[in-house]
Amino acid sequence: MADQWVRLELDLNAFDADRFEAYVTRCLDEGIRLTTLAELGDTPEHRRALYELNKECSADIPERGEFFSYEEFCTRRFDAPSYDPRGVVLALDGDDWIGMAATSRHEDFLFNEMTGVRASYRGRGVSVAMKTFGMRFAGVCGVRRIRTFHHPANDSAIGMNRTMGYTDTG
Ligand SMILES: CC(C)(COP(=O)(O)OP(=O)(O)OC[C@H]1O[C@@H](n2cnc3c(N)ncnc32)[C@H](O)[C@@H]1OP(=O)(O)O)[C@@H](O)C(=O)NCCC(=O)NCCS
Repeated sequence: MADQWVRLELDLNAFDADRFEAYVTRCLDEGIRLTTLAELGDTPEHRRALYELNKECSADIPERGEFFSYEEFCTRRFDAPSYDPRGVVLALDGDDWIGMAATSRHEDFLFNEMTGVRASYRGRGVSVAMKTFGMRFAGVCGVRRIRTFHHPANDSAIGMNRTMGYTDTG
């Protein structure tokens, strides 16, 4: 794994909501529905589907290595006190889960746990749409900052976050 993560933060006071809500509208116009795990139902079946999607997308993260077993994933994600299904955004094309943007809840910020879009849906603004949609959860939590970090070779993830206004935290 990298020893020089790219650490980024978004200040929601500086977020250009009008510009990025257009990505949400575009997704909906293209028939892609945005929802959350809480809305869809935080059920064992849906947790397993989230795992499968996360595993598939994580295969494209540089140097990610072997993905967690389902049991490890449950412990790390669902059993963590920072877990809240309202912070897990999903993009659906019909019944197919095609994207996820999962955050966890911390005292004064949200953390981006994982953003992933199935390969055949990339480059259409789905990740930006999901993350913009997910900012409603920041409002619910009363936080104004969202943090993330990436492998320095993950150009698409870093580029996507910079496009949204994330800046380096050093
Ligand atoms: C990172 C990822 C989620 C991006 O999803 P996506 O839906 O294809 O991204 P978008 O189409 O919303 O791109 C949004 C913006 O990112 C920027 N971007 C995308 N790819 C880029 C690249 N390779 N280099 C630089 N910027 C890039 C662009 O500015 C783009 O906006 P624009 O199309 O309006 O110019 C997707 O590539 C993925 O699932 N990768 C594998 C998993 C991963 O690495 N996740 C991140 C770690 S948690």
